[in-house]
Amino acid sequence: MGSTKGPIVARPLLNVLAGQLGRPHGVLGRLFIGNLLNAHNGGTITAAVTALAPQTGDIAADVGFGGGAGLRPLLNRVGPNGRVEGIDISQAMLHRADARFRHDRDRLRLQTGSLTGLPLGDASIDGMLCINTIYFVADLGKAFDEIARVLAPSGRLVLGMADPDWMAKNPVTAFGEFRIRPLATITDGLAAAGLQVANDIRPGDGGDAFHLLVARQKSS
Ligand SMILES: C[S@@+](CC[C@H](N)C(=O)[O-])C[C@H]1O[C@@H](n2cnc3c(N)ncnc32)[C@H](O)[C@@H]1O
Repeated sequence: MGSTKGPIVARPLLNVLAGQLGRPHGVLGRLFIGNLLNAHNGGTITAAVTALAPQTGDIAADVGFGGGAGLRPLLNRVGPNGRVEGIDISQAMLHRADARFRHDRDRLRLQTGSLTGLPLGDASIDGMLCINTIYFVADLGKAFDEIARVLAPSGRLVLGMADPDWMAKNPVTAFGEFRIRPLATITDGLAAAGLQVANDIRPGDGGDAFHLLVARQKSS
């Protein structure tokens, strides 16, 4: 997006930040962005795991795990007989998580990959988190078809996204690859892929609070 929002001196910084948020990379990505994401989004991610409610023995996934704040609570929920799949398009986030979760390799598989081509088998996932990641995906239909493909018939998705009105006010979203979409575009897209939104949980205050869309396969 090429908007010129924001004070002129802040634009280069906002541009760098937006690029890092969409795909953390380099030294900045590894040393700073992962921590920033965890500090800023940790509370929302905790609420998302609660909404997903993975069960002992489940196979859960976090797509676009970023700093990895969702991985530990998912591992705790699925327990010793479960497994967690962590997928992110960013090599920097993968390397960072690989080091931090080196003692969990028996139950945590980390892979680089995209929401539009998930390295996961059909109907293999009981519960998927995807938080603050959909903004960076151009082909929504392909992403939602992929989610529907990998979710088990009784599988659940928690898709977390900032409110579009809040995003439009945030200067960083005018830079990088952010796509601000109306909520209905998201829910209609999910429905077209066969995913029914059962609930829109709003952690936070006010009309522009975050959205945690809880969805299931329509046939289940
Ligand atoms: C803003 S961060 C959010 C990270 C974390 N979920 C959170 O809420 O703190 C977006 C993450 O999604 C990843 N990402 C962007 N596009 C992606 C795609 N198409 N498939 C998978 N991951 C993607 C980025 O590399 C980044 O780690």
